[in-house]
Amino acid sequence: MTTTPARLRKAVLPVAGLGTRVLPGTKTTPKELLNVVDRPILSYIVEEAREAGIEHIVFVTGRSKGAIEDYFDHQIELEAQLQAKGKTDILEMMNAELASAGEMSFTRQMQPKGLGHAVWCARDIIGHEPFAVLLPDVIVDGQPGALKQLLEAYEEVGGNLIGVEAVPESETHKYGIVDPAGRDGRRITMKGMVEKPTQGTAPSNLSISGRYILQPEIFDLLATQERGAGNEIQLTDAMARLMATQVFTAVEYEGVTHDCGDKIGLLRANVALALKRPDLGEAARAAVSALL
Ligand code: G1P
Repeated sequence: MTTTPARLRKAVLPVAGLGTRVLPGTKTTPKELLNVVDRPILSYIVEEAREAGIEHIVFVTGRSKGAIEDYFDHQIELEAQLQAKGKTDILEMMNAELASAGEMSFTRQMQPKGLGHAVWCARDIIGHEPFAVLLPDVIVDGQPGALKQLLEAYEEVGGNLIGVEAVPESETHKYGIVDPAGRDGRRITMKGMVEKPTQGTAPSNLSISGRYILQPEIFDLLATQERGAGNEIQLTDAMARLMATQVFTAVEYEGVTHDCGDKIGLLRANVALALKRPDLGEAARAAVSALL
């Protein structure tokens, strides 16, 4: 690239999903607010976005997701009680997560029409600039975080980027899958991508795992995007069309991906992240070993 790509400032977090794979736990609690160790899944995702320099997060919410908005605001009574009890360490952790003035916007996807439609709902708040998408049920334990790794590639090659990771062949039908053309280290050029290919037809085992940097031209394509896999408006289908006119690069980021929208994935995230915590690791190891 001879010109510097436009700065990435905004991110879309589609949080309208119903969390059907972890019901009934998600009947009254948004799945994004289920705890992994001692903070909600969403807290890890927002941390990853902020680490990559994101200044404005657009949450695409739905009915019964109001608690998400409250999570990033003050809880005056609780804070006063923690202060009175001298629990300043917890207070500091809570304060670090609060939204700064104007940092967060909330808009609603009123019908579950798919990920592509959810992203399209954010079009006016994003405007004409590049933006990130982070799927909020996927925690990536990486150093730096997955979005920052994508950003480093974006700053060199510009255009559109997607995070990918290898999955077993038997699982490719659950994901968006890329059709690779060439590879330079962790960067992969592509011929195409397909959403949830039927078993045995996947062009590779590289799945689109939930981190994207996209150019705003995607919105015009999403506006006219026909329903695809699962009878939903798929982001992958609109990206496949955008590939005809814009640069797309897949990045096989370094890190461990935890799908927290799934029972075992959520359990695994809890165990894995507890084991890594300096304050809990030893006790977590003893507890897990005792069970095995
Ligand atoms: C979505 C995307 C898919 C991606 C997946 C990652 O699918 O449409 O391309 O691979 O997230 O988790 P969903 O899991 O919402 O069906």
